[in-house]
Amino acid sequence: MLNKDLILVVDFGAQYSHLIARRIRDQGVKSEIVSYNISIDNILNLNPKGIIFSGGPASIYSTNAPKPNPEILNLNIPILGICYGLQFIVDQQGGKVVSTKNREYGKSELLLNNKSKLFSNVKNKSIIWMSHSDKIVKINDNFEILSHTSNSPYAAIKIKNKNIFGVQFHPEVIHTKCGNQIFDNFVYKICDCNSNWQMNDLIDEKINNIKKMVGTNQVLCAVSGGIDSTTAAVLLNKALGKNLYCVFVNHGLLREGESKRVVDLLKNKLKLNLTYVDASKTFLSKLKGIKDPEKKRKIVGNEFIEVFSRIAKDIGKFKWLVQGTLYPDIIESAVTNSLTAKIKSHHNVGGLPEKMNLKLIEPFKDLYKDEVRKIAKILKLPNQLISEHPFPGPGLSVRIIGEITNNKIEICRHSSAIIEQELINANLYDKVWQAFAIIGDDKAVGILGDQRHYGYVVTIKILESEDAMTADWTRIPYKILEKISNRITNEVNDVTLVTYAVSSKPPSTIEPQ
Ligand code: XMP
Repeated sequence: MLNKDLILVVDFGAQYSHLIARRIRDQGVKSEIVSYNISIDNILNLNPKGIIFSGGPASIYSTNAPKPNPEILNLNIPILGICYGLQFIVDQQGGKVVSTKNREYGKSELLLNNKSKLFSNVKNKSIIWMSHSDKIVKINDNFEILSHTSNSPYAAIKIKNKNIFGVQFHPEVIHTKCGNQIFDNFVYKICDCNSNWQMNDLIDEKINNIKKMVGTNQVLCAVSGGIDSTTAAVLLNKALGKNLYCVFVNHGLLREGESKRVVDLLKNKLKLNLTYVDASKTFLSKLKGIKDPEKKRKIVGNEFIEVFSRIAKDIGKFKWLVQGTLYPDIIESAVTNSLTAKIKSHHNVGGLPEKMNLKLIEPFKDLYKDEVRKIAKILKLPNQLISEHPFPGPGLSVRIIGEITNNKIEICRHSSAIIEQELINANLYDKVWQAFAIIGDDKAVGILGDQRHYGYVVTIKILESEDAMTADWTRIPYKILEKISNRITNEVNDVTLVTYAVSSKPPSTIEPQ
């Protein structure tokens, strides 16, 4: 097999390291994240065409500041340092970084000083994204200043006569409009990479690694019928064939017609070795009377583990469990590092492996949703599944505020189906990230069939997002909202008022619970 050009991402503990690696993949170049303390020998063995230093939460002068072997700067391999990565380079070269109380956070204008390969095709005054509190206050003569901002005299610098660059801003985040151009310049103009990596390579690598790791052991796979777990199951099926056992648990909180659709897809179309369990009654009885959102999530998660492990015992002897966890799931559940605040307990991360003493296979844990969609396309999964909106593991329970009752589930389920259908009719379904109904305990007086009716309030939520880390509400045409609202009050029992959610994430989250 042809050797692939490689860019190493040296991780200094940033949330964004994965995003950097992903931007490199987007360029058609292989990337690999390695720890900051990687040895020089290991770097040379990997033979990268370029190295990127990530940002990181530490201050360069703190006692535990992550620092690679300084020899890394003398390997004659091009380097791009980002934020903390830049500060490490400056510190090593005798410059000065200081802690400031004034954090520079948000949009800024990039003002170019000198012509440079790094900023080839980047316009002066491009919008960039800053997020730092430590600041460079002095550099020495062996640096060239490539750009500045109104706040940072050293927004981008380069070591003279070396291909070592540093930027104070974050080219990897979507708000830096010229970010992709900067990575393009770095990998092609500075590192001289060939565009010889594709998603197919990642698939082959994953299949080979899984085969090696698992051998002839039986592997269990929890599938929900969503794109992540279904794609994981199909990938594993390619690697393991009959040794893969898929289990689909219906917790009674699925979308309209979903359980039937999923069984048909997994069993009949994808020919997976599937066990289907309808456990809706048990789940709903456990959730009776519970109002607290985290408690509800915990109950769904724990019950899932109970049901799943009982079934698994009956069907095989397992050492491994497959989960379709994505990188943003891990970040949101704060399992990567203690600096990230926990927002919600995602039930698809953790729990099962401990209880059943299983080792985890998470083929997508470094990937983003749209990358899994690309893999699904390559694996020839149906288009309908690929373009389906994400649906949370705990299902409608996170969209029902207060106690979960059969009536509220039905209202939430049916209203959500109407929202989805109307978006499909208007050709808008694929343009939005998620669209669904929320129901709580608020009620409003209305008139149904000439009678006073004290019915439920349903909130429509339609959102746009790149990766679910941030999201904005969709400016949906009034005509479509009107149609959805009319259909919900006409077709769904017990609803007298429909509202539209106009909050972005942050400060809201996508799911209300
Ligand atoms: P939030 O509500 O945290 O949602 O803004 C971000 C994205 O994650 C989905 N979500 C989940 N997905 N298990 C999942 O598989 C969960 O427990 C869970 N909670 C939220 C949500 O639908 C959105 O796309």
